[in-house]
Amino acid sequence: MATAAADLRVKEPEIDPIDVSLKELYTEDRFEEPFRQLRKHAPIQFVPDSHFGPYWSVSTYKPIQHIEALPKLFSSSWKYGGISIAFDSDKPLENEIRQPMFIAMDPPNHTAQRRTVAPSFGPSEVADMKAEVQQRTAELLDSLPIGEPFDWVEKVSIELTTGMLAKLFDFPWEQRHKLTEWSDYGGDVELIRSPEGLILRNEKLQEMGMAFAELWQQRLANPGKDLISVMLKSDAMKDMSPEEFIGNLILLIVGGNDTTRNSMSGYAYGLSQFPEERAKLEADPSLIPNAVQELIRWQTPLAHMRRTVEEDTDMFGPLMKKGDKVVLWYISANRDEEIFDDGEVIKVDRANARRHLSFGYGIHRCVGARVAELQLHTLLEEMAKRRLRVNVLGEPERVPACFVHGYKHMQVELSHY
Ligand code: HEM
Repeated sequence: MATAAADLRVKEPEIDPIDVSLKELYTEDRFEEPFRQLRKHAPIQFVPDSHFGPYWSVSTYKPIQHIEALPKLFSSSWKYGGISIAFDSDKPLENEIRQPMFIAMDPPNHTAQRRTVAPSFGPSEVADMKAEVQQRTAELLDSLPIGEPFDWVEKVSIELTTGMLAKLFDFPWEQRHKLTEWSDYGGDVELIRSPEGLILRNEKLQEMGMAFAELWQQRLANPGKDLISVMLKSDAMKDMSPEEFIGNLILLIVGGNDTTRNSMSGYAYGLSQFPEERAKLEADPSLIPNAVQELIRWQTPLAHMRRTVEEDTDMFGPLMKKGDKVVLWYISANRDEEIFDDGEVIKVDRANARRHLSFGYGIHRCVGARVAELQLHTLLEEMAKRRLRVNVLGEPERVPACFVHGYKHMQVELSHY
């Protein structure tokens, strides 16, 4: 339940604005200290100037929940720049194409389109995926070298998540790595801020659009059980404009790809930082379901979601004006001292790990959460069956951005315990 707004009113910030959108904070893994400051002294703070323009920073748990529960006042609409900090509310950037997709829509359009896709991610549908995911995970783990260095991101996280998406869309298997490439361009908020970067991103997304338009034609003639066929058959989506169709595919691919990938990389890195917790998990595999939640909380694969103010409001104290960007820092809420004891630390048996906001909250809560959990759960289970441990060799290379929170490369070595 969201908390009453009256209880969430904040005092004047006690500190100068802290710009937590700086990519260096994430590349160098230095984001925890500034968020600690913000939670303590300025949980809702206006940042007048940043690489992404002015924005409101919301860094504690309860106001984020509250804002997400008010989609009429705090819009997700692509028309205002959508759900990441990257795009401006008032006018498109040079070379920007605003892309409709249901994560970036408000009711009623959001409701209808979500309803079409959601059944493909229901409990029984996801249970049906289990055997296939298990087989793919087992085969992959059995092919990995023991005691020899390799890149965990490339060989495990990317391979497993891209394979899953290719299956969901019945995408040509041998071309599945294209999904990774398109997804990386789609979610890169830094690229978006330069006109040349935006052109490159548009080209990649156009290439993706053409590939999927071809699949669309094929599935029209010969429908199957895959997600494209489901979308084509539904009332809400069959008459979508090509822009909407492609936008929603981008959403499913970007939404399902680097997020799950980074939860798998977060598992390897996170447990290497907390070896006692790793030992606890290795000694008791019944902790796996809880550890999955805890790892998704700790990693927070999407550091933020953004909303745009629809009407002037002072519900939290300071005046938020129509058109203002509001950035909801899940990565900080998931470390909020009021909700999570010692939130910067991984505890595989944390009692309330499930309360994390990594999948968001309210009407937009992640539609693919069960699929992500299934993949991570299966990976941990198959590792446990083989008594395999990931040893991280040195610091990983991290994604240089404040949106996708993750790893580009991570050298590891496997050993048996
Ligand atoms: C650990 C992995 C994942 C994380 C952390 C994640 C995170 C999120 C977040 C934060 C949102 C927005 C919530 C909000 O605005 O309140 C979201 C929405 C969404 N996610 Fe995920 N996601 C993950 C995996 C997936 C997967 C595997 C898929 C599909 C294959 C997927 C598809 C979507 C879609 C379609 C939406 C839009 C829902 C809506 O607007 O109603 N996600 N996800």
